[in-house]
Amino acid sequence: NTKAFIFDLDGVIVDTAKYHYLAWLKIANQLGIEFTHEHNELLKGVSRVRSLDIILGLGKVEASQEDKNKWLLQKNEDYLSYLVDMDESEILPGVMPILNYLKEQNQLIALGSASKNARPILEKTGTLPFFDAIVDGNDVSNAKPDPEVFLLAAKLLNIKPEDSIVFEDSVAGIQAANIGGMVSIGIGDAETLHEAKHLFKDFTQMDKSFIDALIN
Ligand code: BG6
Ligand code: MG
Repeated sequence: NTKAFIFDLDGVIVDTAKYHYLAWLKIANQLGIEFTHEHNELLKGVSRVRSLDIILGLGKVEASQEDKNKWLLQKNEDYLSYLVDMDESEILPGVMPILNYLKEQNQLIALGSASKNARPILEKTGTLPFFDAIVDGNDVSNAKPDPEVFLLAAKLLNIKPEDSIVFEDSVAGIQAANIGGMVSIGIGDAETLHEAKHLFKDFTQMDKSFIDALIN
């Protein structure tokens, strides 16, 4: 059977979650807002604009649209500065074997990411050719946990939601997959991702028989 395997990007394919955190931390420090790794979990999978609102909310800071735009620009420029030298070494462990295996099995692969920087990251890491469809922050108006990003990816592949499998490292993303009626697979900690249908610490823990069971 042909299924749609939909991958989140940040924290699933590449180790960029740490760069998003560093860039937001800089803004938070500038504004005197405490921003811990725990707070950062709330930002995973969430759009850039919404992330800033969450941080400002943590510090109970009210700001003009002009200031917000300035910080959004600063955050993205800072984030992009971490990506300048990005190459395939930033691909997370176990990802390439899974992508290769899915291709060998003639499965369809899509990206379902909130990021507006997704395409250049796929290009720099050499993973772009694996994707049959790409849906990112430029294509959708409703952020995860709204399932729009994943539903659109499945639609582009002509696959029903119930035949779609989503790999996610964020709470919002797991919720989006579940709401969309897809099979949610958490990549990360059980504590954070307990709503996922299946859970793996990382892709090295996932074997081919697990993929085979999803396909058949
Ligand atoms: C998500 C990340 O994939 O994309 C979030 O988990 C990030 O941390 C969001 O804020 C938007 O990304 P970008 O690259 O458009 O700022
Ligand atoms: Mg993610």
